[in-house]
Order: sequence, then structure tokens, then C-alpha cells
Amino acid sequence: MLDQKTIDIIKSTVPVLEEHGTAITTAFYKNMFVAHPELLDIFNHANQSQGRQQTALANTVYAAAQHIDNLEAILPVVVQIAHKHVSLGILPEHYPIVGEYLLKAIKEVLGDAATPEIMDAWEAAYGVIAGAFIGVEKDMYENTEKADGGWHLFKDFEIVDKVEESDVITSFYLKPVDGKKLPYYLPGQYITIRLEIPGAKNIVNRQYSLSQKSNDETFRISVKREDTLTPNGVVSCYLHENASVGDIIEVSAPAGDFYLDPTGTAPVTLISGGVGITPMKAMYSTIADLSPEREVAFLHSARTRSQQAFANKLEHINAKLPNSTYKALYSEEGDGMFTRQFLEENVIADSDVYVCGPTGFMEFVIQQLHAMGIPEDKIHFEFFGPAVALQLQ
Ligand code: HEM
Repeated sequence: MLDQKTIDIIKSTVPVLEEHGTAITTAFYKNMFVAHPELLDIFNHANQSQGRQQTALANTVYAAAQHIDNLEAILPVVVQIAHKHVSLGILPEHYPIVGEYLLKAIKEVLGDAATPEIMDAWEAAYGVIAGAFIGVEKDMYENTEKADGGWHLFKDFEIVDKVEESDVITSFYLKPVDGKKLPYYLPGQYITIRLEIPGAKNIVNRQYSLSQKSNDETFRISVKREDTLTPNGVVSCYLHENASVGDIIEVSAPAGDFYLDPTGTAPVTLISGGVGITPMKAMYSTIADLSPEREVAFLHSARTRSQQAFANKLEHINAKLPNSTYKALYSEEGDGMFTRQFLEENVIADSDVYVCGPTGFMEFVIQQLHAMGIPEDKIHFEFFGPAVALQLQ
């Protein structure tokens, strides 16, 4: 436990950190990667180069500091990040490294304003925050490993099938090389794939939602082809152009707190834009399988039908389900984008609403859902990148 004086110092310096937050975390990453280049194999360089990870870490540190005497209040945030950390194989021994370089960066940016007393307080606070993450992550690792079919960190998978789902989205079916059955996962969860790309300096990691319902044999990820020139495009283009059946890639166990309760019976609205359709497909198939009577609306926005993945399969599922509606709008085919009116007409009253898609789409939809009076605890969303980078106000 921190003493009251330390708590007071931490809380009174939060505004200073907020002011310099991005500068501090930018300096922190730069210095940490010079001293520990091996960590470049863990971090996503696309997030780094877009400054998203910097913002994410800074925001979390403020949130944690504001609640340093009651970290329970930010437990949902810790759990969401811990899922990501566990999926990436972040271990307790990584925390002192981050702590050391974060504190050095605070000192570097704040200079004399960072007195020894302030630095001691932040060192103690970081210890408490890191302890909370390590504790949550330890439980998650243990649960993952002891689950039927579970494993520790990464293991080898073979690409056993590669299927074009649309002009821009291709699915990869992945099977464990050791022949063991797969653990059960919840619809909406993701895996991390880790691979070496010829010519790239570092190993790359990417999270992809699982796009089919849980089964013993294969994981399926469905990847959008990004622009080659963007940092995000490095992995997606490699997968589309070079990865082929028979290739081996490393995969971590399913993780993530964006999922549909497969045993639930309450109405559900699934809203996706573009490749955000992937976790929704897993949710829809799970409903079709386990609770076909459930009331469900599937609302999807894509540029064109030829770019949309799973169109035929979704229509097929919809036709089989007695209480389902499925609507896709194609913005470049005259349907326009989602509007407030469209959402008011199609979101099921009192349903749990799941949203996934590109940044602008997510921001628009979530703002409209708030404006429509849908309670916070009914809105669930997954953003492919640090969630805190979304502008929801
Ligand atoms: C992701 C915070 C410690 C590696 C994240 C995210 C946050 C965060 C907010 C974004 C989650 C999202 O995607 O929504 C923190 C905090 C830490 C901490 C507050 C300390 C208390 C660490 C450590 C490591 C690490 C010790 C490993 C050296 C990563 C990586 C990601 C991530 C690799 C994925 C995002 C990317 O690659 O850009 N963390 N983290 N973190 N964290 Fe941490």
C-alpha cells in the first residue's frame, strides 16, 4: 500500500503528466528500444509509427494514477489491456524494463520539476500499477494453459487452407502442428500471429479476430489487404501475397474481452464496417448453432458487395433463423453509409449491441448509440488498435 503522502504527490502530478504525456512516452519508447532492441520483436511498429501506442500508454498511466488508491475502479481497463498483453506473451520480467525507462523519460522531460520526492512517488506508484497487471495476467496465463487444448505463449500452426472471401479479404485456416485439439474460445475473441517476414528487421505480431465459431480443429482468420505503403500493410500484404498452404506460423491462444455470451438468450445487434465483419461472423454462426431462436439484427456497411466477406454465408444463416434480420449497405452502390435514422430503425430495442470496424465508423456508430440513449453497459466494441485512441466524445 502507498502512504497518503505518496498518493497526494501522485494525484497532484497527474495534470503535469497529462500535459507532457505524449512527450514522456515518446522519449520512453525511443530510449527503451535503444537499450532493449529485443522488445522491437514484440511491439507493433504500425501502432508505434502512428503514435497510437504512445497515446494508449499515456492515457492508461493517467487513469491509473488518478485511481492509485482504488485501482479496482479501473479493473475493466486493466483486464482489456491484460488480454492484449497475454496474447502477445508479455511477462513479469518485462515490467521492470518498462518501469525503468518510463521513469527516466519522466525525468528527462520534466527536468528539475521532477524532484527526488516526485520520482520516488512515481516509482512506488508504477510498482503498484505493474503489480496489478502482473497479477491479472498471471491468472489469465494459468487459465489459458490449463484449459482443455490450451498452451503457454506461442506454438506452431500450419496454414492448411487459404480462401478468398472477397476482392480484399482472404481467410487463412490454421491447424496446430502438434495435432492437438484446439481450446474452446468465445465468439469475438482474437489470436496473435507471430512471423518473420523476409527482409524485415524484426519479428512481427498482429492480432486477428477469429472469424468462425469455436471448433476443435482449425482457427480461421480473415485478413483485409491493406495498402502496401502503410506500416499496417506489411503483414497483411505478406499474408495475401506470400503466405501459402503448408507455411508454418506461430500463434498464441485466443484472448480478448469483446465476445458474445454463447449461452445468453437476450436480443443482440451486431454492427460492422468493412473487415470489422470478422468477429461478427463468429458471433452470428454461434447464435445460429446454439440459440437459433435468439432475436438478432446483423447490420453491415461495406463499399461494394464484391469487397464484402461472407455475404452469401450471412444471407444463408439469416434465412435459417426465425428471428433474424440481416442488412448490408454498400456505400459505393448507392446505399449510402449508416445514418442515425438507419440505426434507429434497425437496432433492436434493449439489445446488447456489438460494434466493430474502422476508426471513423466506430466513432460515428458509438456516438449515435449514446445519443439514442442506449446504456453504456449494452454497448460492446472492438477496435483494431489501442481502444483508447478512439475519440468518443
Ligand atoms: C498494449 C498499457 C506494460 C507491451 C498496451 C495498451 C495499453 C498498455 C493501454 C493498448 C491496449 C489496446 O490495444 O487497447 C500498459 C501499461 C503498462 C504496460 C499501463 C505498465 C503498467 C507493458 C510491458 C510490455 C508491454 C511491460 C512489454 C515490454 C505492450 C504491447 C502492446 C501493449 C506489445 C500491444 C500494442 C502494440 O504493439 O503497439 N499496453 N502496458 N506493455 N503493451 Fe502494454
